[in-house]
Amino acid sequence: MTKPSNKNAFVASWSYEAAPESTDHIQIKKQYELFINGEFIAPDNGEYFETVNPANHQVISKIAEASATDVDKAVNSADKAFKKWAALPGKERGKFIFRIARLIQERAREFAVIESLDGGKPIRESRDIDIPLAASHFFYYAGWADKLSYAFPNREVKPLGVAGQIIPWNFPLLMAAWKIAPALATGNTVVLKPAETTPLTALKLAEIIKESGLPKGVVNIVTGAGATGAAIVEHPKVNKIAFTGSTGVGKYIQKAIAGTNKKLTLELGGKGANIIFEDAAIDQAVEGIINAIFFNQGHVCCAGSRLLVQESVATLVIEKLKNRINSLVIGDPLDKNTDIGAINSEKQLQTIQEYIKIGIEEGGEIYQPDGPTPKIGNWCRPTLFINVSQSHRIVQEEIFGPVLAIQTFRTIDEVIDKANNTPFGLSAGVWTEKGSKIFYLTQKLKAGVVWANTYNKFDATSPFGGYKESGFGREGGLHGLKSYVKFQ
Ligand code: NAI
Ligand code: MG
Repeated sequence: MTKPSNKNAFVASWSYEAAPESTDHIQIKKQYELFINGEFIAPDNGEYFETVNPANHQVISKIAEASATDVDKAVNSADKAFKKWAALPGKERGKFIFRIARLIQERAREFAVIESLDGGKPIRESRDIDIPLAASHFFYYAGWADKLSYAFPNREVKPLGVAGQIIPWNFPLLMAAWKIAPALATGNTVVLKPAETTPLTALKLAEIIKESGLPKGVVNIVTGAGATGAAIVEHPKVNKIAFTGSTGVGKYIQKAIAGTNKKLTLELGGKGANIIFEDAAIDQAVEGIINAIFFNQGHVCCAGSRLLVQESVATLVIEKLKNRINSLVIGDPLDKNTDIGAINSEKQLQTIQEYIKIGIEEGGEIYQPDGPTPKIGNWCRPTLFINVSQSHRIVQEEIFGPVLAIQTFRTIDEVIDKANNTPFGLSAGVWTEKGSKIFYLTQKLKAGVVWANTYNKFDATSPFGGYKESGFGREGGLHGLKSYVKFQ
């Protein structure tokens, strides 16, 4: 190691010995079929697509592509299973859900490795966040299954029927858990479609569901891309759609089901404002800013992708941020040292690169660390944009990558205006020592979630969801049950 000339060079000269997670213990099949009516069956048209590892572009498995005919089979099996499942006492439904939760825990390491292989997220995150939280959602909603009369006192609630659930690629198993667990607890049956770049953990979940002895047809998992999703949305026997993904597809879904009786929850994009006041604990805030935007490569709907920092501390905060991103480790998602893994797909990498280009063309000042990135795979360095303003596209639009747009403010009124001035309203963060400022801002910020002196904290007991173009409906907590019931 060369002798450091200053603090910055010292940090940059650190290197870690590789610490890869073992892959010996995982089982991935060469080919996966559709999970319909409790069995794995080949797709009607015999078509398959490949899922690749975004960190090395190697094909992992072939995945069945469900046509409208297959979706029809899945919906019919869910419809057939509904009556008996809904009629089971809540306590009995709860037992199955508890069993699924325990099986996820037992196989947590396998799930974590597969999640990182298929989607590119650092193993530290899939191991410590995605998989434990997925299990926790099943545990939490299992507990509600026999207590619905306490959840909705003096009201009689009934399940809706078949829930069509379409999920994205940023938290594959966790989103499956967010969707399936409350649906089952309330007595609905499910047809779930994972995203086309990350289907593997949902298919592993299908294996666990089979092992759990859940009655056939209660959960069906169909794989495919947009057309498969659209077939679910448009199926007449589907009574509820739960969607997480892009605002564009959310709008299509809303149009497609207008005039039907289908219930809908949409969890769409965001452009979260992370607000740092001069009285904040600056070093903790800097760690919070890093976590807010670089967690999961920034593929997070509630990412703190806008930093609003009070002018008096802006120079200090930006200097500390630059130092901090110099020490982030980019590379192999399976390495336990990795902070920033692979970008989920080449398509998403192109989107992010396009936004970085736009940011530069619009006059933003870019800062990126200059260390090497692996030769093969989808990589993007952590990126700061300084000197950007409210009208810049990188301030208004969701990038869904490791790119932070930094603005300053002087007064509370100004920061509230700036924070609320986007089409979205999903999340925000406030960093200050003053509790009264926190309470004032939480009332004024148009965001479904506001974190104070922390960021990206998730919990099964806590509702999550947005305003405006970020969608509507809540998932998690007691509120999450409401989207899956009707009142008598
Ligand atoms: P997307 O919205 O196309 O994909 C999400 C899911 O919707 C996938 O399962 C996909 O197969 C399905 N889908 C696509 N077209 C559909 C249709 N017509 N009917 C029904 N289902 C359909 O998102 P994409 O293209 O992967 O990402 C584009 C942008 O969307 C990202 O850059 C990001 O800004 C945003 N996004 C937001 C997410 C969030 O958590 N809110 C998650 C994923 C993407
Ligand atoms: Mg993949």
